[in-house]
Amino acid sequence: MSRFYITTPIYYVNDVPHLGHAYTTMVADALARFHAAVGDETWFLTGTDEHGQKIEEAAQKRGITPRALTDEVSPRFAAVWRELGIANNDFIRTTEARHQATVRALWQRMADAGDLYLAAYEGWYCVGCEAFYTESQLVKEGDAWHCATHKRAVDWVAKERSWFFRLSKYQQPLLDYIAAHPNFIRPEGYRNEVVAFLQSGLRDLSVSRTSFSWGITPPAQDPEGLKHVIYVWLDALANYYSALCEDGKLDSPRAQAMWPGAVHLIGKDILRFHAVYWPAFLLSAGLPLPQSIVCHGWWTVRGEKISKSLPATRIDPVVLAHSIASASNVTHGNGIGVDAVRYFLLREVPLGNDGDFSLESLFARYNAELANDLGNLVNRSLTLVHKFSAAYAPTVAGTAHHEGLAGHIVALRQLTDEVCRDARQQFTDFAPARALETIWKLVREGNRFVDGTAPWVLAKRAKAGEAEAATDLQLALGYLRGVLHVIADLVAPVLPTAARVLHGWLGVTRAPQWPDGAAALAEPPAGPMVASQAPLFPKLDDAAMATIAKAVLPSEALAPPAVSVGTAAVTTSPEAAKTPAAASVAPLTAPPAPMPLVTYDDFAKLQLLAGKVLTAQAVPKAKKLLQLQVDVGEATPRTIVAGIALAYAPEALVGKQVLVVANLQPATIRGVESHGMILAAGDDAIVGLAGVDQAVAPGTRVR
Ligand code: MSP
Repeated sequence: MSRFYITTPIYYVNDVPHLGHAYTTMVADALARFHAAVGDETWFLTGTDEHGQKIEEAAQKRGITPRALTDEVSPRFAAVWRELGIANNDFIRTTEARHQATVRALWQRMADAGDLYLAAYEGWYCVGCEAFYTESQLVKEGDAWHCATHKRAVDWVAKERSWFFRLSKYQQPLLDYIAAHPNFIRPEGYRNEVVAFLQSGLRDLSVSRTSFSWGITPPAQDPEGLKHVIYVWLDALANYYSALCEDGKLDSPRAQAMWPGAVHLIGKDILRFHAVYWPAFLLSAGLPLPQSIVCHGWWTVRGEKISKSLPATRIDPVVLAHSIASASNVTHGNGIGVDAVRYFLLREVPLGNDGDFSLESLFARYNAELANDLGNLVNRSLTLVHKFSAAYAPTVAGTAHHEGLAGHIVALRQLTDEVCRDARQQFTDFAPARALETIWKLVREGNRFVDGTAPWVLAKRAKAGEAEAATDLQLALGYLRGVLHVIADLVAPVLPTAARVLHGWLGVTRAPQWPDGAAALAEPPAGPMVASQAPLFPKLDDAAMATIAKAVLPSEALAPPAVSVGTAAVTTSPEAAKTPAAASVAPLTAPPAPMPLVTYDDFAKLQLLAGKVLTAQAVPKAKKLLQLQVDVGEATPRTIVAGIALAYAPEALVGKQVLVVANLQPATIRGVESHGMILAAGDDAIVGLAGVDQAVAPGTRVR
């Protein structure tokens, strides 16, 4: 048995949870459920980040104390996670005594290592990120330097006395550690980003502030008598460790047991804090590093990151889940709506990539994969097994008489082995989208099994006295029951409510456990099975979709997109945009003018490669253009100028996978030499980037 300790970032309490926060928490929850199901000793931590200038300012704006603000908002996070069925084992608040004691102990160790010294800090600070920046990391807009994430002017911190941490000392040890532990930062693209950052050199880090007071005071005295509070990121990162410590003791037995299995799941916005600062603090304190930092991308709405600062992007995960449940008239509770959201978020985008959220894609997956594929299998199989099992007891023991049935059984057994093995590996490798894709192979095979074995025909023949048909029917029913058992357990990490309902129908009373391949098809039910019930995931019709869209989309997000027909820009009417179909950009396209045919040889002259955007910046005085650095698997990245600035903010592109025409003749555009072209959809107005539906290595050929 291994130990698996998964954490989410602790969320700032100046905000209430939106779909972006819910995504991280749902992924962590699914991974925790998976590890528990394979028998690992599992612990799942989330919580709230409550100190720092940002919270102090948010409280001041509301005219309340920081304590009152944190006491009001932190429980709202806990309540949303409860509403979303999140099964965290612990919830930590950085204002708790247990956390503060650990932070001080950690500080003391860092001081004892000779890594803290007093000096003065001067420079730019983004209160949104709670981070110090150099000008090369900021964007100049007019006269002011702006933070690329928060899109607002940064503050100048003028000569503030501060404790400094010798971060520079850990540059080489961190590079060595990452080289020796290739899975320390995952997926690989993010590891490369961190390595590049480390190689560019580390400057010592200011780890205390004296200009405000909402934070933990360090154990050290300042000889000048100034009152410091510990830098909020040092405070916050320590939560992962402090949640395991008793009375702030760094060597608590629980910490020693669980820490080596620690996995920090984070969004890409906070990679540097987790993959550079946190390991450096731990090395300084003489503590082991966590097992992995697993980084995911951003959910955007129309290309903009879902965030507090952009109200048009805010989607409330509880409203979304509840509206799906009520609009589709589910009979099995709001948990089914939550399952639908979890399924979509985890299936739609490989962990690590960005994803643009649209209700159209959610509805399409819901109807095709949940209502249709899974729902049909469950309903048909339950009906059949229940109807015939009194007379023909289901079993998987014995040999089929009919060759067709024998073939289906072999295929089903083989695929069950394969799917249980592969999906297990994919969950273990933090690839839930691939695991779900794998599991759906079995769901579809189950439907083929029903169609191909036609148990209702076997039943007719058995009733007419054919003994062989009777034993074949018992087998068909046994395998159908078995495949439902297996599928209920396979989907349980991502669809916990659906799995629980299905287990109830199947007479399974135990907690979900990862199935052991085809052997699991033979598990006998612990209790009676019930007849087919109302559908697990009722199909969403147009009216249901419109109701959900109305409930979920912030009014700004409904603003109709400008789309182009030929050369004229057309805008859909506000009324029409309220229906989900009209809210999408697809339907308004004129038939394309016929183009001359090309031969395959002509096509093969194009070198199409998968690439990854490393940096993106505006091209001065060209409002449609962005200058990108794109890794296409060559020794140095390509500079490419792309006309996509109206559709994508530069920071939304960083880390994105794109398709590149790599052998296009270089061209100088607005003074920048461009070496290739990014493939995108749209005419005058770009409406989306072309891509590959899996994460692939930069340089992978596309054909
Ligand atoms: N308090 C810090 C984290 C400290 S951890 C020691 C913080 N908090 S936050 O409230 O801003 O939440 C950040 C996390 O929320 C991101 O890292 C990510 O996991 C999640 N997300 C917030 N917006 C998101 C999207 N639009 N898309 C995906 N995840 C997003 O940073």
